[in-house]
Amino acid sequence: MNNNYFILFCILAIISQVQSVDPSCKGIINTNPILHDEPTFVNSVPNGKRFVVGSGYDKINIVHLYGGTPYDMGLALGKLMSEDLQHLVPEYFAYLDNKIEDLIKTLPPLVAKWIAELGLLGALDLNYEITRFYTPPWYDEELRGLAAGSGISYENIRRLNLLPELIKAACSVIGAWGQSTLSKTTLLHLRSLDWDEKAPIAKYATVTVYHPNTSYEGYENHFHDYYKQKYSGSYTFANFGYLGLIGSIGAYNEVSVGLGQKVWITKEQDITSRFGNPWTYVLRDVVQFSNTIDTVLTMLVNAKRTCSVHLGLGEYHRNTSIASDQTIDFLGIEYSAKEFNVFSWKDMYNTPNHPILDDVVYWDPHPQPSNDTCLGSLLVEHYGHLDAPTIIRNITSQLRTGNTLNLVLDYAENAAYLAYSAPDDPQGPLEAFNRVHTRLDMAKLFAEPAPK
Ligand SMILES: *[C@@H]1O[C@H](CO)[C@@H](O)[C@H](O)[C@H]1NC(C)=O
Ligand SMILES: *[C@@H]1O[C@H](CO)[C@@H](O)[C@H](O)[C@H]1NC(C)=O
Ligand SMILES: *[C@@H]1O[C@H](CO)[C@@H](O)[C@H](O)[C@H]1NC(C)=O
Ligand SMILES: *[C@@H]1O[C@H](CO)[C@@H](O)[C@H](O)[C@H]1NC(C)=O
Repeated sequence: MNNNYFILFCILAIISQVQSVDPSCKGIINTNPILHDEPTFVNSVPNGKRFVVGSGYDKINIVHLYGGTPYDMGLALGKLMSEDLQHLVPEYFAYLDNKIEDLIKTLPPLVAKWIAELGLLGALDLNYEITRFYTPPWYDEELRGLAAGSGISYENIRRLNLLPELIKAACSVIGAWGQSTLSKTTLLHLRSLDWDEKAPIAKYATVTVYHPNTSYEGYENHFHDYYKQKYSGSYTFANFGYLGLIGSIGAYNEVSVGLGQKVWITKEQDITSRFGNPWTYVLRDVVQFSNTIDTVLTMLVNAKRTCSVHLGLGEYHRNTSIASDQTIDFLGIEYSAKEFNVFSWKDMYNTPNHPILDDVVYWDPHPQPSNDTCLGSLLVEHYGHLDAPTIIRNITSQLRTGNTLNLVLDYAENAAYLAYSAPDDPQGPLEAFNRVHTRLDMAKLFAEPAPK
């Protein structure tokens, strides 16, 4: 374990509403219900099925894709979601274009310069050119399928997928298990995304469930080239994110390996690189192709990494025949081109404002080591009683984290609880952490049969 802590800078706008237990917690308790609705079937195409869950501003698309090749899965996604993609792509780029002046101020100088000189689309194309040699071929294949199926140009689909490489988000990570939880037997994993809660992509909230079967055969050697790890199969997994983004910002697989991300902005600018495999693609590959934390770490260490991000990485083995040292583990990771540091709960900072808690790994959205007392005091208060509803009702809304997407995974339940922001809801609330959350039965989603 590496104890090199870096000074981290994150930006989170905190707007004071109702004060709670700890005055540094500026949010309110989320009293909204947690929905347990069954997804309803919409339609199917070869290699794909579309469902929706929730209604109105809380609607989430659930898209199942079956291998076939990566191209086939992209094609199915494009066909199922073509109308939505036709709206999303121009709408989102127009939105970004409108706020580009503000955006540029928040970006690393090099990226700001690219955008100033080439425009946003040109900068995204440049990013493609300098990352393509490090990007496994199955991404381009899936993107080409997605373009063909949706009628959106391949270039625009590709640009959409490289946005996370240029534009960063804040966010929080919690991994909590053992004595900290109500059940004592589960692993809870929070992945809250503090990004742009007003962005129109919120309307295209999508959980994509990939059911690859033989799809990645033929890529075994490529796989080894990119990750220095023997290819041992592709798992069924879910991406929790937005329509059209095929990389991962938060993901979970059928053998209960889960990964979430949080920004890691450090003073040491030279630890990042623009040349490598885009981080959302590395995260997806890790969840798609790993069944233990050891495999994940090997892949992450060997990947040609780019940006600096924090990761929360969980594993929970309900199937004890999978060789692993333990059934439950959770690690916090500092990930960047040149630095790779791994933290167990024992390596968390131990300051009065951020106490070490047995079996809890946590990072709040603030500069680290955080001097904000809110998350530490909420975790102390709810220690031993943590479950997904408590995190949603009593923690994320009080901490005001997860404004764009709030996701809690309960590994023993094999369930995901999530909410997205709702920029168009006239009644509000805007932020995901204050909204109705939906519980998804992941075992059921992973078992969804292919279309006939
Ligand atoms: C957690 O939030 C719920 C409302 O959703 C509230 O009834 C309960 O009292 C809160 N628990 C604690 C310990 O604050
Ligand atoms: C893989 O899935 C595709 C599409 O659902 C199906 O046509 C094919 O038979 C499956 N192959 C295997 C080996 O299960
Ligand atoms: C457990 O994992 C092994 C190895 O991946 C697999 O062969 C077996 O079918 C799994 N059993 C269950 C019940 O999922
Ligand atoms: C937290 O407070 C300590 C002591 O006042 C200070 O040295 C440190 O820089 C602060 N950390 C951050 C991230 O602001």
